[in-house]
Amino acid sequence: MSDIKFADLYTVDPGDMKWEIPQDFDNIFDFSYSDEKHDLLNLYEKGKRMQWNASDRIDWSLELDEDNPVGLPEELFALYGYEPYMKMPDKEKARVRRHFQAWNNSQFLHGEQGALICASKIVQQVPNMEAKFYAATQVIDEARHVEAYKRLMAKFGLIYPMAGPLKTLLDQVLRDKRWDMTYLGMQVVIEGLALAAFAGIRDHASNPLAAQVNAYVMQDEARHVAFGRLSLREYYPQLTQAERDEREEFLVEACYLMRDRFEAKDVWANMEMNVDECVRHIKISEGMQMFRKFLFSRIVPVVKDIGLWGPKIQKAYAEMGVIEFANVDIDALQKQDEDIAKEYDARREHIQEIADIGAE
Ligand SMILES: [Fe+2]
Ligand SMILES: [Fe+2]
Repeated sequence: MSDIKFADLYTVDPGDMKWEIPQDFDNIFDFSYSDEKHDLLNLYEKGKRMQWNASDRIDWSLELDEDNPVGLPEELFALYGYEPYMKMPDKEKARVRRHFQAWNNSQFLHGEQGALICASKIVQQVPNMEAKFYAATQVIDEARHVEAYKRLMAKFGLIYPMAGPLKTLLDQVLRDKRWDMTYLGMQVVIEGLALAAFAGIRDHASNPLAAQVNAYVMQDEARHVAFGRLSLREYYPQLTQAERDEREEFLVEACYLMRDRFEAKDVWANMEMNVDECVRHIKISEGMQMFRKFLFSRIVPVVKDIGLWGPKIQKAYAEMGVIEFANVDIDALQKQDEDIAKEYDARREHIQEIADIGAE
C-alpha cells in the first residue's frame, strides 16, 4: 500500500487533478472588530471547545469488509429490486455494491473539500468579525473532515471522481460574488443534505469505523448548519423581495441538482451495466424515493427558518414531496447529533478501560 499514491485509487479517469475556479469577489476587512452578534460568538466558543484530532479520536486500526465495506443491509442498496442486479451471482453483486459505496463516500470526500474552500471564502468575504471568527473554526473542521474521509477511502482502496451535479453546484456557488450565496449553497443545501446522508450511514452501518467517522463528522456539521441559519436569518429580512426571490430561485435549482446527485452514473458505466435503466430504477424505486425525501429533512426546516419561504419554494418542495419537513425541530436534531457523538466517545472509553484491565 505504501507505494500506491492516493490519486492512483481512482477507478475511472478523473481528468485533471487540479480544478481552477476564477474568483471575483471583494475581500472585506472589519476594523470595527464588531462583537455584537452574541449567538455567533457563542457558536465560535463552542467551535473552539469542540475541536478534536482525527488521528486519535477515530480508531484507524479498524478495517472495512471487502464485500460490504460500510456494512449496510442489501435492501438499502440503490439497485435493490432491479432485476439484472438481483440475478447476479453473489460475488458480482458484492462488487457492484462495494463500488457504489466507494462512489458515495468519494462524494463525501470531495464535498468536504468543497466545504473547506467555501468556509475559507466566507472568512474573506463576510463583512463582520463575528462571522469571520466562526468561519475560521469551520475551516479547520473541514480540513479534518477531508483528512478523515481520505483515510477512510484509502481503506476502501478505490475512489470515484466528483459527480456532475455536485460539481455544477459548487462551481455556481464559488463563482458568485455575493457572500450569502456561499452560505446558501454550502451551509444550507450541501451540508444540510450531507447531514441527512451521514445520519443514514451512522444509524444503519454495521462497520464500526464507517459509523465512527460519520458520527464525529456530524457533530461538527450540526454547528456548520447552525452557522448558516444564524447568519442568514438576520440578513435576509434586510433584502428586497426581488433579492429574496432570486435566492429562492437559486435554492430550487440547487435542490433539484442535489436530488439528482444520487444517480451514480459513473458506477453503472464502470460496472458495464445499462446506465439509463439503472437511473430509471433509482427514480422509481420506492426505497430510493424514501431515501431522497429523507435527504431533505435537514434542508427544508432551515430554508423556512431563514425566511426564504415564498410561493416558489413552497411549490417546489410540495412537488418534491418534502414540504412536510418544514416543521421539523432542527435544534432538537442538532442536540441529538451531538449526544450520539458523545455516546461513541463513551463507548470507546469503556472499551479502552476493559483493555487496560486486561493488560494489568
Ligand atoms: Fe465537513
Ligand atoms: Fe461542514
